[in-house]
Amino acid sequence: MTKTTVRKKINNAFWATFAKNYWEKKPGAFKGRDFTLLEIDAQQIFELLLLYSDHCRKTRTIEGLKFYIDGQKQYIDDVLELLPLKHDRSLHGYHQRLSRELSDYCLVCDELMQVSMAHWNLLGEFMRGLYKHTGLPNRFAEIGLYLGNYRKTPFGVHVDGCGVLSIPVAGVKTFRLWTPEFIEKNPDLKEAHSYGNYKKNSSLLTAKPGDITYWPSKYWHIAESDGSFSATWSIGVWVDQPASELLIQTIRPLISRKLKSNAKSSSIHFASPPAENGHIGNLPSVLNESIQTLLNLSKAELHDVFLRRWLETVSKNGFKNAPKPNLQSRLKRQDRLQRKSSQPITWSVLSDRRLCIAANGILIDLPNSEKTISLIENLNLGKTCAVNKVNALEFTCLQTLLQNHAVTKVISRSKV
Ligand SMILES: [Fe+2]
Repeated sequence: MTKTTVRKKINNAFWATFAKNYWEKKPGAFKGRDFTLLEIDAQQIFELLLLYSDHCRKTRTIEGLKFYIDGQKQYIDDVLELLPLKHDRSLHGYHQRLSRELSDYCLVCDELMQVSMAHWNLLGEFMRGLYKHTGLPNRFAEIGLYLGNYRKTPFGVHVDGCGVLSIPVAGVKTFRLWTPEFIEKNPDLKEAHSYGNYKKNSSLLTAKPGDITYWPSKYWHIAESDGSFSATWSIGVWVDQPASELLIQTIRPLISRKLKSNAKSSSIHFASPPAENGHIGNLPSVLNESIQTLLNLSKAELHDVFLRRWLETVSKNGFKNAPKPNLQSRLKRQDRLQRKSSQPITWSVLSDRRLCIAANGILIDLPNSEKTISLIENLNLGKTCAVNKVNALEFTCLQTLLQNHAVTKVISRSKV
């Protein structure tokens, strides 16, 4: 009789305990869990990799890809030669082909989730469970797939500035960690590839498919392996940016736009030259004018700048990159649409009474109207939207939502 494993669900209670006891506090390994990302199995990942590799070969680009052999980063022509091929058939088939030649290789792919909306949705669901208790990171989150038989992380013992959730999809993954305090006292460990003397001061996290490991952003770490094959998702949640930096980034475009008229010349003239005793009495006029420009900024303008940024961040689940738009998707008047993304299309009314709609990191501005709000609300409730009933601006908005994977066309039964 086969023994069935009962996996514990990663649910709201798990994330609440995780946020309280582990988040940015200490590492943890959570074994035999059930969570949305497990639905993406090794075969699906192979197919995603193949899709992405075909795109790279076609465009002769390797954006989001890195390939290391014996710890050495490879150049584009070599990387393109080494990517998965259709006849590999599976991750293990790919590994068998590569391992005949390479005893230590590592493929990192950062863009994989962005090529499949179904997978992107599963990732979003997973992250929203975490964010409910930790909030969204000030910088961003990102996800990469690490695959290969490499014995150690190519760049040695390092720290990233992001908390890391690791989720193996094939093989067993081991990480060795040191506390920031220990590294402070033993700086020779930084970027080290051999660290035998310090093993006793480290902790080990081991995970296989179905497990999740976590370490906080300040922990130094290195992946280890006995040379067997593994493939692992690594979710980095970048928490190294203070909120003040985020706020400055957000208002910078508004302030530069406003100040442009004040600073037309490339030099600043004295109001009056410094006195003999060194005293500077008056600000140059351009600086006085700039103060006035800043004071003229209204609360509503600042509110809308922050609100738009927040809508954008929430709509892409705090990730740096959302799936790229498909500009080939064209909407027709006879189409019917349904929501495609796992989270609601977010929207808000700005201070100037305009409506701002956000999905997968894009923002759409529209005149505020009860009818448009009800259209978005109905899509969020799972209802079907008949495109022939919308006005021209709503049509353009729906087309943008379609191209950005927030809605999808409903295929009528007669076409199936
Ligand atoms: Fe790392």
